[in-house]
Amino acid sequence: MAFTRAEAYAPASVANLGVGFDILGMALEGMGDRAIIEFHDSPKIVIADIKGDGGKLPRDPAENVASVSARALLDHIGDKRGLTIKLIKGLPLASGLGSSAASSVVAAVALNKLLGEPFSRPNLLPFCLEGEALVSGYHADNVAPSLLGGIVLVAGITVDAIQSLPIPADLHLALVTPAVQVPTNGARAILPDKVSLRQMIHQTGAVAQLVDAIHRGDLEALGAAMENDQVVEPARAHLMPMLAEARIAAKRAGAIALFIGGAGPTLCALCDRKTVAESVSVAMKSVYDAVGMPCDSLSTRVDRRGALITEAS
Ligand code: HSE
Repeated sequence: MAFTRAEAYAPASVANLGVGFDILGMALEGMGDRAIIEFHDSPKIVIADIKGDGGKLPRDPAENVASVSARALLDHIGDKRGLTIKLIKGLPLASGLGSSAASSVVAAVALNKLLGEPFSRPNLLPFCLEGEALVSGYHADNVAPSLLGGIVLVAGITVDAIQSLPIPADLHLALVTPAVQVPTNGARAILPDKVSLRQMIHQTGAVAQLVDAIHRGDLEALGAAMENDQVVEPARAHLMPMLAEARIAAKRAGAIALFIGGAGPTLCALCDRKTVAESVSVAMKSVYDAVGMPCDSLSTRVDRRGALITEAS
């Protein structure tokens, strides 16, 4: 069946999971971006509307991640048609919730539907990556979970380097996003160029423990591994307001561990029950309330579905 209009949804994601810089990410329930794509008569891609970005995202199709992702897909198959894209941002920008990845994914998924789904979901990865790369370089640790759902190991940026991991049954999350923007490019620029052999051994050991803990569903071991980062969190901690205080408050309220969501400033607490995640979310919010810094907090779970077509006609 041929469609002329497709609407899709792509979930938020948190990258790194602490120690797994650029190689681990998980999709999150309850938050995401939407896009509506239609073919039109002109051969151009047009960003017809963006809602929810406060006017901050570029409307120039050469500079918007959604249109760049769509363009990469059309160019790959040699399709010269033009499109209109409407983007509905559910995710805050530069927040560590995979906003640019979700916009890149949602455009590729909606366009794939319009084209009669020539690509399987994983095979849309290269096009989504072109969008993401526009703002933060080639790393797939937000794009892959937003596209596929779940917890994803991303050992490279090609489809064959992506492995979905099991989702521990009791895994719950509490998130807090303070109202400051941390652009990913800047947060990457401050990272060390080199690490010592001793640090390399430490980090690879911690990542191995993390993946092992996920396979065993051992949340205590998972939390310990997540927080065992000697390279990225120490370099970025100063960009995250109230990081130490939020970690203490989260643990007092029952969280197992707390890690920075991607490049931040979202902080993500690992919990083993819904009621605990709800209390931790309130406790983390109170840390920012106490210093008069606006923030959003919530409890959530891992999104298992990834990007979806929500309507096609
Ligand atoms: N792995 C990336 C980083 C994720 O931490 O820079 C950006 O969201």
